[in-house]
Amino acid sequence: MAGDDERDLQKRAAAAAAADLVQDGTTVGLGTGSTVALFLPALARRGLSVRCVATSEATERQARALGLAVEPFDARIERLDLAVDGADQVDPAGWLVKGGGGAQTREKIVAAAAERFAVIVSADKVVAAIGPPIPLELMPFGLGATLRLLSSLGEVRIRDGAGPTPDGGVLADYMGPVGEPGELAARLAATPGVVDHGLFPPEMVTEVLIGTADGSVERREVRAR
Ligand code: 5RP
Repeated sequence: MAGDDERDLQKRAAAAAAADLVQDGTTVGLGTGSTVALFLPALARRGLSVRCVATSEATERQARALGLAVEPFDARIERLDLAVDGADQVDPAGWLVKGGGGAQTREKIVAAAAERFAVIVSADKVVAAIGPPIPLELMPFGLGATLRLLSSLGEVRIRDGAGPTPDGGVLADYMGPVGEPGELAARLAATPGVVDHGLFPPEMVTEVLIGTADGSVERREVRAR
């Protein structure tokens, strides 16, 4: 099992490889988390002229401090050239679990808008099969009723100490069985009151960059776009 230092080197290697994917004059979606926090300085060091959108306030703050141009992701931007983000789990088919940092709804909007979505991870994120927890963002309106509906799928826990998301949502984690991720994703998405869930389908993912401690990167192509 890799220690924190080794995991950090792995994340750093994946982050550097993703920074090399960015082209001058393009639009870039910035994910959230500790791996993205390593990607941002690597991107800034390249000195490119890029227009970025950020999936969280923390990412936006760090990106701006590094001199990256961050714009609101509103009606003026319809698509992105590239999105780069971390993940909590990656399975052999390219299914992801995201939302350890609670940003999965914005992260999914950004990933879906991007021509190319590169996922940057340390080796411990690669799993044989997706398992709980699966992050959820829920509407505060009717929260009890939503939780009652979800309980037919499995246990759901409101995330301790997490305030509302920037969009006013309640963060929770689905702790029940996962089985086939596509089936669970469809059932979660079909539950009224679920804003979004942290299962990202392989169709959304272009490639997964898995860092190694020696600085090299294993590149898994998931889907050509
Ligand atoms: C945040 C996320 C992160 O990308 C995911 O939790 C991985 O984080 P880290 O890079 O810190 O391991 O989905 O909502």
